[in-house]
Amino acid sequence: MPKIKVKIARRPRDKYTIFIKENCIDYLPEFLKENKIGTKYAILTDSKTKKIYGDSLLRFLKKNKINAELISFDQGEKSKTLATVEKLAEEMITKNFDRDSAIIVLGGGVAGDIGGFLASIFMRGIPHIQIPTTLLAMVDSAIGGKTGVDLEGGKNLIGTTSQPKAIFVDINYLKTLPQNQIVNGLSEIIKYGIIKDKKLFKYIEKNLEKILGKETEALEYIIERSIKIKVKIIERDEKELTNERILLNYGHTFGHALEKMSNYTLLHGFAISIGMVIINKLAVEQKIMKEKEAKRIKALLKKAGLPITSMKKPETKDILSDKKRSGNFMNFVFAKKIGKAIVRKEKITKL
Ligand SMILES: NC(=O)c1ccc[n+]([C@@H]2O[C@H](COP(=O)([O-])OP(=O)(O)OC[C@H]3O[C@@H](n4cnc5c(N)ncnc54)[C@H](O)[C@@H]3O)[C@@H](O)[C@H]2O)c1
Repeated sequence: MPKIKVKIARRPRDKYTIFIKENCIDYLPEFLKENKIGTKYAILTDSKTKKIYGDSLLRFLKKNKINAELISFDQGEKSKTLATVEKLAEEMITKNFDRDSAIIVLGGGVAGDIGGFLASIFMRGIPHIQIPTTLLAMVDSAIGGKTGVDLEGGKNLIGTTSQPKAIFVDINYLKTLPQNQIVNGLSEIIKYGIIKDKKLFKYIEKNLEKILGKETEALEYIIERSIKIKVKIIERDEKELTNERILLNYGHTFGHALEKMSNYTLLHGFAISIGMVIINKLAVEQKIMKEKEAKRIKALLKKAGLPITSMKKPETKDILSDKKRSGNFMNFVFAKKIGKAIVRKEKITKL
């Protein structure tokens, strides 16, 4: 089974494995027993994923003599709040979870962020396992250890950095994922190609139909390659202390502002797609990137079914609420060409 080992440079003992394969979830009970992750497991999932996969995962674990219970919240970004975390923590107390317990997060990025956050603070921190079930979560949100919730003032403003004990990326989950969610995740994968991997970008251009048709081989290829890129970055720069991890925010500054303006009705990957087109336009204007490259990126995003323009311009106040701001300066990630991105500090007055 393809495995990616993650070793955080600043804490070499903090290492874990990402398993990537159809049906790799079958190995979960053995993994939990062998590694003695917890004495009791809370399968934390959202209401929709619970119905499709949560109940069967619980049965599967119980059949394998693993002590587990389901806890869930209403699906959707609106649930990614401190109030939800508090409610889930109370439920865990009622269900007798303690400091020897662990959380198995089953779901998309919302469950991943909530579950990882709750695990990092429940009883001052218990272990967790990530089982991402959306394409976006498989290639992005479940990887890297960023956890957290939204505030009225913006997305992901409260959180922790907390690495899981393992990640199980089982492509089978994508079979039930609606097509717009596949396209949503593909946006982040195209982003990886632009910032770090021209071969990946070219592969997507060539195999777009297979990817959108959910063909296993094509999906596994782009997922594994994307995860490897993110892992390489976070191993060296877990906490976004250098420009390395900031590269991952390509398209995100404007994207986050658009998400917020839409009151989170615009999907993350869709917002990022528009964000990438906006930053490329600025890059061409500032002669950082050739127009030909910007056009090629725009063409792929469009062909993938992603939006490339927005009815409204992102508002400056929303751009400024981005966490990447520091004083009067803000870091912007520009692509110089497909496969190579750079970080530039821009004065806010320039916006
Ligand atoms: N922590 C990070 O580093 C990081 C990075 C990127 C994004 N994020 C966060 O991720 C979130 C978005 O994640 P998302 O797009 O996965 O959204 P999501 O978790 O809301 O999932 C999208 C929808 O798909 C459903 N779903 C999940 N798996 C399914 C499956 N296999 N089949 C059918 N339906 C399924 C969910 O119930 C939900 O309705 C945002 O909150 C964003 O901020 C975090």
